[in-house]
Amino acid sequence: MVTIARTREELETALKGADRVSFVPTMGALHDGHQQLLEFARPLGDRLVASIFVNPTQFAPGEDLDAYPRTFDADLERCEAAGVDVVFAPEVSTMYPNGLDETVTVDPGPLGSILEGAARPTHFRGVLTVVAKLFGLVRPDVAVFGQKDYQQLVLIRQMVDELAMGIEIVGCPTVREPDGLARSSRNVYLTPEQREQATVLYRALQAGVAAGSRGPEAVIEAARRVLADESVEPDYVALTSPRLGAPVPGEEACLLIAARVGKPRLIDNITIALGEGA
Ligand code: PAJ
Repeated sequence: MVTIARTREELETALKGADRVSFVPTMGALHDGHQQLLEFARPLGDRLVASIFVNPTQFAPGEDLDAYPRTFDADLERCEAAGVDVVFAPEVSTMYPNGLDETVTVDPGPLGSILEGAARPTHFRGVLTVVAKLFGLVRPDVAVFGQKDYQQLVLIRQMVDELAMGIEIVGCPTVREPDGLARSSRNVYLTPEQREQATVLYRALQAGVAAGSRGPEAVIEAARRVLADESVEPDYVALTSPRLGAPVPGEEACLLIAARVGKPRLIDNITIALGEGA
């Protein structure tokens, strides 16, 4: 049976006697990607906590905070099926007791203003702030995140390292639809036509992988060509080192793409074995 905790006190009670806590933070609207994280996290501790909280501070004005899908009953069923012990589903006032404007925040530093952070300047401050608060409340030994949100994962690792939070961070591979589209709570916004077109992100990543041995420039060019063939104008196509620095020929690199398909903005990424280039 899943215990639902809505307040700090209820969470504390639900965690009493736990030896090793594993934790999966989410914003709900759970899909197979989230479920994989839960299943991965299950054996990592004796008490598995999932949080469901649509965090207002990571949405900018005009983004989809109000429209963000909320499916609490179905989420609970998924949690139950995945063996979650505690679902922490707090109110905004529990996470931000002094209000959204008076809260302490975590500044993500320079990595927070590139790529996704260039398009969404306050996003990662909101993400790191809420994740730090959730870590403080849940006090997990290990927390599991998806590689789908690659920059988020890198920033959370950096925060945990630099603030010496003493939490093991585990990254899980991206779960995809059969045609390659990365699962996302936001895919419900796609019309059938856009849904078809959205597979272009994965096809572009694959073209990048295939060009890997020919070096960084060939990777970017191959990915861009696939997007252009579908008339999708990317927000960025970026090749980086695993820590989001400059890519190093001959080493592993990360190819990241963001593009708007209709209204929804989609992101995806893949690991590439990079050759030395021409
Ligand atoms: P949310 O978008 O709900 O995602 C929760 C976790 O699920 C994140 O770690 C995300 O990377 C992972 N995830 C999403 N889609 C995935 C997929 N297709 N395959 C694998 N993992 C996937 O990310 C957030 O919420 C928020 O920013 C949060 C960290 C909860 C802070 O509010």
